[in-house]
Amino acid sequence: MKVSKTIELVRQLVKEARRTGKTIGFVPTMGALHAGHVSLIDTAKQKCDYVVVSIFVNPTQFGPSEDFDKYPRPIEEDLKICQKAGVDLVFNPTTSEMYPDKNITCVNVEKLTDNMCGRSRPGHFRGVTTVCAKLFNIVSPDFAFFGQKDAQQAIVIKRMVADLNMPLEIVVCPIVREQNGLAMSSRNKYLSPQEREDAAFIYKSLQKCREMVDSGIRKTETIIVQMRNILEKKASIKIEYVSIVDEKTLENIEVVQDKVLAAVAVRIGSTRLIDNIPIDIST
Ligand code: PAF
Repeated sequence: MKVSKTIELVRQLVKEARRTGKTIGFVPTMGALHAGHVSLIDTAKQKCDYVVVSIFVNPTQFGPSEDFDKYPRPIEEDLKICQKAGVDLVFNPTTSEMYPDKNITCVNVEKLTDNMCGRSRPGHFRGVTTVCAKLFNIVSPDFAFFGQKDAQQAIVIKRMVADLNMPLEIVVCPIVREQNGLAMSSRNKYLSPQEREDAAFIYKSLQKCREMVDSGIRKTETIIVQMRNILEKKASIKIEYVSIVDEKTLENIEVVQDKVLAAVAVRIGSTRLIDNIPIDIST
């Protein structure tokens, strides 16, 4: 496994891989890798001949009062995980390698970023789409792999790729959960054992949503009340949003039909956690 801190070396190594006819798979990450990331790498390995992982805590997607400084950066552990998973190249740039000057160019996907995390984290998605556009230009992958846990991110990135005719395909991989249902996230590292137990109620609320839809309930207001009730059982959980949105537009809907996304964002202590389930009643 090669590790590169420079854009130039990444370009050179990817070019060499391509010259020998290899397809390039790319897993962009901010490190603090967990089983969710490993499942993205595994899928990339099944689909592509040469797998690149980026590990870069991107400052431009964090708000001024967010956790950029304390975001976990266990680089040695991360490299071991990549090595074990059979990654070919890790790109671990410094901030000055990625942003030598203060960027005055950015990529902004409109509308899809108005609701949910876009509403509660102004500027977040502009940071994500801009860094992903940069990373795609550096790595030039055939496929890039994203987790369903960040459902809005995956939809926004797909739209950016389509709108800007970027020559790659976005593959979205299922959420990997801990035993109690908590979606795997690098931020789970912040949780105390008690908070981790309480966090199981996030998935419980989403399961409630599925149960209610399965039992024929379609009014989202009714479902959201029940989901909130479950979350409110734990005093440690502070709800940021509980939304049921159209899977394509990410706009709130009043009635469940076709394909929708039920999504939750909460804070437990100072830790922000998100989760979602796609629901398809179109068939
Ligand atoms: O999902 C993440 O870890 C980040 O948002 C990403 C896609 C690596 C961009 O910094």
